[in-house]
Amino acid sequence: MKAIQIDEFVKDFSELRPKDVQCQCKSNQLGVQITHAAVTHVDMLYAQGLHQNNRRHVKPPFILGNEFAGTTTSSPPNSSFPPGTRVFGSALGSYATHICVSETAVKPVPSQWTNAEACAVGASGAISYGGLMDVGNLQRGQWVLILGATGGLGVMAIQIAKAVGARVIAAVADGEAGEKGRMVRRIGADVVVDFQGKEWEGRVREATDGGEGVHLVYDSIGAVESGIRCCRYRGRIVIVGFAARGGEMEMVKMNRVLLKGISVVGYRFGEDGRRDPEKTKQAWKGFMGLVEAGKIRPVIYSGEYKGLESLPRALEDLKERKAWGRSVLRISEEAGQTDKSRL
Ligand SMILES: NC(=O)c1ccc[n+]([C@@H]2O[C@H](COP(=O)([O-])OP(=O)(O)OC[C@H]3O[C@@H](n4cnc5c(N)ncnc54)[C@H](OP(=O)(O)O)[C@@H]3O)[C@@H](O)[C@H]2O)c1
Repeated sequence: MKAIQIDEFVKDFSELRPKDVQCQCKSNQLGVQITHAAVTHVDMLYAQGLHQNNRRHVKPPFILGNEFAGTTTSSPPNSSFPPGTRVFGSALGSYATHICVSETAVKPVPSQWTNAEACAVGASGAISYGGLMDVGNLQRGQWVLILGATGGLGVMAIQIAKAVGARVIAAVADGEAGEKGRMVRRIGADVVVDFQGKEWEGRVREATDGGEGVHLVYDSIGAVESGIRCCRYRGRIVIVGFAARGGEMEMVKMNRVLLKGISVVGYRFGEDGRRDPEKTKQAWKGFMGLVEAGKIRPVIYSGEYKGLESLPRALEDLKERKAWGRSVLRISEEAGQTDKSRL
């Protein structure tokens, strides 16, 4: 099969080229022909060895890519995914024409979605569901601020929060009138705030009842100080990522945490799954319930990325912040399916 294998971490994405790699599934694994693979912030970091997992869990040689959709080509006897089943899932090694995975790594593609759409949702839906609902304890009627609203996790977080009856403020770099601002509005954000403007945190507070501030901040960019300014007394902040920090961590003035009685909680979906798989199952279950109720719309970036050869360009576009939602690499054709979700 062809795959983007990392033998050494790269400095430049142009070094990422497909090559021939052996692939032999074990008898208890599913063999999947990959049709689509998602392009995520984590992949950008994994390629360069800049993710915390690169110290322990993900070291060269490995095949890059974490989220995919495709069709099963082989499966263990009595599998719930017989050959020919459309599946999507999350496993290291998705920038390849084929992957071998355990049954627990995949879900059936919902019948109303194409493989591209399922791939765009990938694990982000379950991650954002766990972050908002389990860790963040988001309740109907509460105000939630989504930082990193335009990214793969953010577009899921907006829709999940709306689906459970919360009121959503999305912080975006280009404001309400820009391409990204219009996109977050279309998927349900009640209020869009340009976080590059002066005093933007004040505008977030003003948008909430009596200017008190939000109940919850979902932070995938690393902006806790701002999050604290946007919160009401006894507000909560769930930290899921640091996409905006370029590797330099924030120093937070802890007196602000005390003065507002803020709870700051970190959330690591993968580590939760390693320590307590039941939590991951619950996050998936909650999220898939919303999918079945028709509350979730995949958001695919409009950039065209065909074949593994286009991965460097897709990663560059993500790094340069051109992309929004989820960029999807088309690895092989999916018969008779067209994407409905290009916003
Ligand atoms: N905790 C977990 O379990 C978990 C799981 C998966 C991912 N993550 C982490 O979560 C973060 C987001 O992942 P993702 O897949 O959503 O990434 P993504 O699709 O690449 O989106 C990144 C988001 O960050 C924003 N951003 C990037 N650079 C920025 C900057 N300099 N200033 C302000 N905003 C900036 C982007 O906004 P623009 O559109 O304006 O560029 C976009 O909304 C990453 O750090 C990732 O490693 C955590």
